[in-house]
Amino acid sequence: MKLYELLAIIILIAPTNGASFLKKRDQEKKVRYDNYSVFRIKYETSLQRQSLLELTNIKQSFKLWRDDNSECNLMVAPSAMPLFEERLRTVNVTAEMFIENVQDLIDHENEADTRADATFGWTRYYNLAEIDAWLDTMLAAYPDVTSGFVLGQSYEGRDIRGLLISYKWGNPGVFIESNIHAREWITSATATWLINELLTSKDELVRELAESHDWYIVPVLNVDVFVYTHETDRLWRKTRQPSRISDCVGVDPNRNYDSHWMENGGASSNPCDETYAGPQPFSEPEIKAMSDFVSILKDKINVMLAFHSYSQLLLSPYGHTAEEFPENYADLMQVAKAYSDAVHQLPYGTIYKYGSSAGILYPASGATNDWAYNEQDIKISYTIEFRDTGNFGFVLPAAFIKPNAEETLIGIMALLAESKKLGYMEPKYTRN
Ligand code: ARG
Ligand code: ZN
Repeated sequence: MKLYELLAIIILIAPTNGASFLKKRDQEKKVRYDNYSVFRIKYETSLQRQSLLELTNIKQSFKLWRDDNSECNLMVAPSAMPLFEERLRTVNVTAEMFIENVQDLIDHENEADTRADATFGWTRYYNLAEIDAWLDTMLAAYPDVTSGFVLGQSYEGRDIRGLLISYKWGNPGVFIESNIHAREWITSATATWLINELLTSKDELVRELAESHDWYIVPVLNVDVFVYTHETDRLWRKTRQPSRISDCVGVDPNRNYDSHWMENGGASSNPCDETYAGPQPFSEPEIKAMSDFVSILKDKINVMLAFHSYSQLLLSPYGHTAEEFPENYADLMQVAKAYSDAVHQLPYGTIYKYGSSAGILYPASGATNDWAYNEQDIKISYTIEFRDTGNFGFVLPAAFIKPNAEETLIGIMALLAESKKLGYMEPKYTRN
């Protein structure tokens, strides 16, 4: 046998190489975004908005990255540029390109540290296996103050893991849900950084913060699709559960909670849409698992934070209507202002806006923070949209992980202090 034949056989049967070789073949082909561009479009009328958002019905050609009352960010396939330009002319708006080639950005988002073996250092984005292994390391290193929990199983049967950090009995509880939307990688990078900080920081203020709250942190809720965004399609938002009524796959998990589900146009009934609410509330096992877990715990949880990207916003209830506001809306705004001010004080000078979800964004029903507020009596409850406001969008280069995470830590510190001032941090505060 020739040497190269022997080598070939060794490579084929070596367990790790063989496995990854097979895995690559089995894998769905990786979706590429060569020369897809992303545009910022400011509109003045709702007709303009409607007409532009209509384009997103052509799924292969357009993808909505961001939308609020005054502008949207739209990704356009190269082949759809003529159609896009024609539509801009018809509705008489201008578009400003901020990403020329999405694939190029995806290829470079981990440039800060491309060494595959680099230890967990928040200089690149980690995949689920790496995050799981790191959680195990932390659990082993801090056995007295941490415990691992499993929310339940995902559609594909993965464990949805979380970490509880508790230094003493009777602390008020903070629940952090992260990466419910799979492509929002900055959220799990930030959540893991926070865990590390809470456990290892020597800073007095961080120690106080860490030790005087119980932290329930789920770094990756949408586990299956987090894997899918690493292996197949970087820009998938929803779940991957197939539909009985359509070839389109997946439900928007952040429209799937049973709270004002599908009310007021806050979600879509079309399985092909990015905000498809699902065939019924809690159709997604990941969301059902969250619900079951939090329902049991709710008397221990004072604060719910759902991490998203991007837009730099703090969003309070309600999501289902902009006509009404929660009874403690003034408090919610005061607390959000504290977060925003604290973040702004940092050298980065980053600006976070705040308001109710439906008020400053768009109606969105069945989201985590609304469900926690409406159904679980968790009265300090926000969706936090991290960096940026439309330079890199979902494909935020890894160099921004630490700045974003530092802002989140400072913000949460201020948020909890303000909540405490207002009486929300008593071991389940008394209601009137
Ligand atoms: N971008 C997030 C989403 O579309 C924001 C949702 C905020 N709305 C809410 N009701 N919490 O899911
Ligand atoms: Zn999101």
